[in-house]
Amino acid sequence: FAEASAAGEVATPELKHDIAKVGVVGTGTMASGIALVFAQSGYEVTYVGRSQEKLDGVVGYVTKNLDRAVSKGKLDEAGKEAVLGRLTGATEREALADVDIVVEAIAEDLAIKTELYKDLDRICKQGAILATTTSSLPITRLGEATSRPESVIGMHFFNPAPVMKLVEVVTTPATGADVDETVKALCAKVGKVAVSCGDRAGFIVNCLLFPYLNDAVKLHESGVAIADIDAAIKEQAGFPMGPFELLDVVGNDVSLAIQKELYAEFKEPGFAPAELLEQKVAAGELGRKTKKGFHDYA
Ligand code: 3HC
Repeated sequence: FAEASAAGEVATPELKHDIAKVGVVGTGTMASGIALVFAQSGYEVTYVGRSQEKLDGVVGYVTKNLDRAVSKGKLDEAGKEAVLGRLTGATEREALADVDIVVEAIAEDLAIKTELYKDLDRICKQGAILATTTSSLPITRLGEATSRPESVIGMHFFNPAPVMKLVEVVTTPATGADVDETVKALCAKVGKVAVSCGDRAGFIVNCLLFPYLNDAVKLHESGVAIADIDAAIKEQAGFPMGPFELLDVVGNDVSLAIQKELYAEFKEPGFAPAELLEQKVAAGELGRKTKKGFHDYA
């Protein structure tokens, strides 16, 4: 479908699999945002977390976002209730038995994800698509943990998921063309823009973005003030956020993990994580989620 016609037009991707029910695994910021994206687009969503408390956190995130839309006059109360009504929480993975696609957004840890994919392989119906939001782990390895690597694909959303339009659709050598096309069509249905990439560290965006963020930390280490760097990039270079503001949104732990992956894969000496980034993580100053990172959010 991606081939251009003689007129130079690219065919629109089509849903090769019926998608009505979506499963989301995880209860963090990305998982909550992704659950909201699908529920707002009319899909029935089953989200799975490890405890009722974590499931309540997803409801809290979604409600806060919907309340903000209501207060801005973009949604009415009935619309809000309809979105909430399409979301069902579960603490058992078995609840994913009848979903058409699972979008997984759990910890960035290969052992933890591999265990999940083995379980999804056991639980999910045949033909269900198993999508991961990993930003730094080899998706090929997740496919190998299942008996259906043709159904495994990357769907890399960006933070904040309800706002950022881009989704990197990452195929492994085993991913079926029908799965690739369906995921791209699904992205369009939920208002996202899909780009294709192969299974390599950083995909497209992180491969370019994180060395820049890491360099910003090194520039600060050399004596330039955080406020000046943020202002220069934001006010003059036209970025929506300065690098330190963005590091705090993404999380310094996540950023460090991504930078380490890039360094390990590309062996570029300049990709070595900045000392101060390591220190921030060691000190638990992870960004907005801990109310302190490169900036304070008390
Ligand atoms: N969750 C949900 N919605 C949010 C939000 C959040 N955290 N933050 C802002 N919004 C919504 C607002 O409600 C508003 O919605 P509306 O248009 O319907 O009214 C809209 O976004 C714009 O918000 P604001 O006017 O308050 O603020 P800004 O115009 O400054 O936009 C921003 C905020 C969209 C976050 C913008 O600053 C931005 O684009 N920042 C860069 C984000 C970025 O680059 N993300 C990618 C990080 S890399 C990554 O995710 C990869 C991963 O692997 C780590």
